[in-house]
Amino acid sequence: MALWGGRFTEEPADAVFALSRSVHFDWRLAPYDLRSSLAHLAVLESSQLLTADVAAKIRKALQELMSEVADGTFTYNDTDEDVHSALERGLSEKLGDIGGSLRAGRSRNDQVATDLRLYAIDAMLETSTLIIALQSALMAKAAEYSNAPSVGFTHMQHAQPVLFGHEIAKHVHAFNRDLDRIDDWLNRSSVSPLGSGALSGSSLPLSPEATATALGFKRSAGNSIDGVSDRDFVAEALFLISLVGVHLSRIGEEWCIWATTEFGWADVADAYSTGSSIMPQKRNPDVLELIRGRTARVTAAVPQLLMLLKGLPMAYNRDLQEDKLGVFAALDALRPCLELAPSMIAGAELQRQRIESRLEDGFLDATALMEYLIKRGVPMRTGHETVGRLVAHCEARSCRLADLPLSELQEACSLIREDVRDVLGAANANRALQSFGSGGAQSVEAQVEAWRGRLAGG
Ligand code: ARG
Repeated sequence: MALWGGRFTEEPADAVFALSRSVHFDWRLAPYDLRSSLAHLAVLESSQLLTADVAAKIRKALQELMSEVADGTFTYNDTDEDVHSALERGLSEKLGDIGGSLRAGRSRNDQVATDLRLYAIDAMLETSTLIIALQSALMAKAAEYSNAPSVGFTHMQHAQPVLFGHEIAKHVHAFNRDLDRIDDWLNRSSVSPLGSGALSGSSLPLSPEATATALGFKRSAGNSIDGVSDRDFVAEALFLISLVGVHLSRIGEEWCIWATTEFGWADVADAYSTGSSIMPQKRNPDVLELIRGRTARVTAAVPQLLMLLKGLPMAYNRDLQEDKLGVFAALDALRPCLELAPSMIAGAELQRQRIESRLEDGFLDATALMEYLIKRGVPMRTGHETVGRLVAHCEARSCRLADLPLSELQEACSLIREDVRDVLGAANANRALQSFGSGGAQSVEAQVEAWRGRLAGG
């Protein structure tokens, strides 16, 4: 079972082996380990450290292992310590002693760092694809409600009127920053540690640059100690997916609120709701809550990894074996949420009338009226006070700003004219929103159009 050979006279104690063992969680790296073994083999062969004959045998055995790992006919057993030793056992079972030749010039330290990079790159590419699908679903929903007037909130209080499409489209912008960050991460993390060996590189005539290229990396590690000990790419990836989780969780929270009896704005489809074991009438937005809740598991991986790294001498230390648990847990927690979110959003329906019925509550047009005054030459501070007084006046009389006769408005400010009617009422106040990126019609249409093109790959 032990790989470290002649130096030892005893096998490790069972408890030590159990503590050491990682194969039950790092086995998912097996396809990447085999890929990097093939790249390493090519370099051993081209530098004549292995004969063509031996290399061909090893190549064939590695390829067989690849399909056996994929279809489950080869897997780890109770005596395997980690993914690397399990696969080396597989090779030796096929080839006898020559199976061990592949170990020349590499160590599990550079192997595991390489495997984890390859795995993380695939996982982040998959995350990007899922994000794009989610953006498409969000934009389709935004288009569906692009002309639906809605209450916009700050502090969860009625603030200004926006179109509902704007509310939904905002998430597409947030996810786009996630995509940008992933792109940036992909570029920075595309570094191959293979060839760094245990820490120092090798005296053998290897070509880390060639293995890097063969594995699709942009570069090879410029410092072998950094190569085996750098886990920045993991820390960054965890932060990136945490932010994706946070963005998803904020959607979950909003839709939970919108689905309350008090709001009654959104209906989540039955397939995405659950009942109660005791209350027959219940239809709970558990899916949204689980999306929100799971984000805790994703974000927890960031401090976990930073704590692992912070006191670690910057070379390979066995602590690093623990890095993978958080990565796998975080990705496994996030993936199903990202996968189901698009269809949940596609199936959600908004109660337009219910939303509209609250549009005239809470003086959503007050800011538009103040901006009307500013356009008439009133200093902002004065305009703010004037509209504030008018709001208090309306509250005392239980009416809306639009209900006030022109004479009362003019009493508050003599510069007000009949055209003030154009900004009073939530619909008018919304129509008055003109600026780039605003919650008005032009901006929302522009967002829907722009994203339609971008999401279609245009
Ligand atoms: N399984 C280890 C890891 O995940 C790699 C093994 C390195 N072991 C060692 N004693 N240098 O980090």
